[in-house]
Amino acid sequence: MKEIALVTGANKGLGKEIARRLAAAGLTVYLGARDATRGRGAAAELGAAGLDVRFVPLDVTVEEQVVAAARAIEEECGRLDVLVNNAGIVTEWGLPFEDITADHLRRAFEVNVLGAVTVTRTCLPLLRRSKGARVVNMSSPLGSLTLLDDPDHHPAASRGLLAYSSSKAALNAVTLVYAEALRAAGIRVNAANPGLVVTDLNADSPYPRGTRSVEEGAEVPVRLALDAEGTGGFHGGMEGDVTERVPW
Ligand SMILES: NC(=O)c1ccc[n+]([C@@H]2O[C@H](COP(=O)([O-])OP(=O)(O)OC[C@H]3O[C@@H](n4cnc5c(N)ncnc54)[C@H](OP(=O)(O)O)[C@@H]3O)[C@@H](O)[C@H]2O)c1
Repeated sequence: MKEIALVTGANKGLGKEIARRLAAAGLTVYLGARDATRGRGAAAELGAAGLDVRFVPLDVTVEEQVVAAARAIEEECGRLDVLVNNAGIVTEWGLPFEDITADHLRRAFEVNVLGAVTVTRTCLPLLRRSKGARVVNMSSPLGSLTLLDDPDHHPAASRGLLAYSSSKAALNAVTLVYAEALRAAGIRVNAANPGLVVTDLNADSPYPRGTRSVEEGAEVPVRLALDAEGTGGFHGGMEGDVTERVPW
């Protein structure tokens, strides 16, 4: 039976590559995007390669859109096997930490945390109908409290991303709580570290943007989406090794 996936923020970057790879693995993929033109364009491009990719309008901060997207998936497929909470933003590139306000945090949390919670919660009835659903939350070592406390791991500069780091730390907590709460239902929930990947997300970054391609960055989330062995893990070394764990 063909599996069904939803990837949020999938019109470009890592999300689009994850959508492509899941569809290439034989899944029906709903490509969520907040902008219809960009979303339709990405879905058409992947569809032209023979992949079963369907655009679904999805701004993760707009609850009615999330509900409508889940309803569309339910009507067409009746269940969901894979959810990748990929949509994410950085709101504070280049700002010294004292200029980062609660509003920068609010905007980052709206997408990176509350968006993931809204989508996951809304999709739960569909995920429960799967024989072994997987949820993947796109996180970052910048959300690891252990690594933030380790000056040898993160240079001081990248420890100044107050909004992004705190939002990904919150997403990590969300991941662990969902993993435990959904364990009995057989729904595996994991966090993925794609490594430092050159995308539009870090186009304005004053720090090194990384050397990894989206193809390399998609490796860990795709592995977790297709075949997560366990639940409640934070997977992926900086070089994309899925067996490596990031400390919480
Ligand atoms: N790149 C890295 O090095 C890196 C490292 C660790 C983790 N990550 C995480 O990986 C994920 C993907 O990032 P990326 O690097 O591929 O960035 P990206 O190229 O900037 O893509 C981000 C995607 O999120 C979408 N998005 C933003 N706000 C949204 C909203 N309210 N509703 C729905 N979609 C929304 C964007 O849509 P628009 O095109 O409409 O803006 C875009 O499709 C993020 O969660 C990021 O934090 C990235």
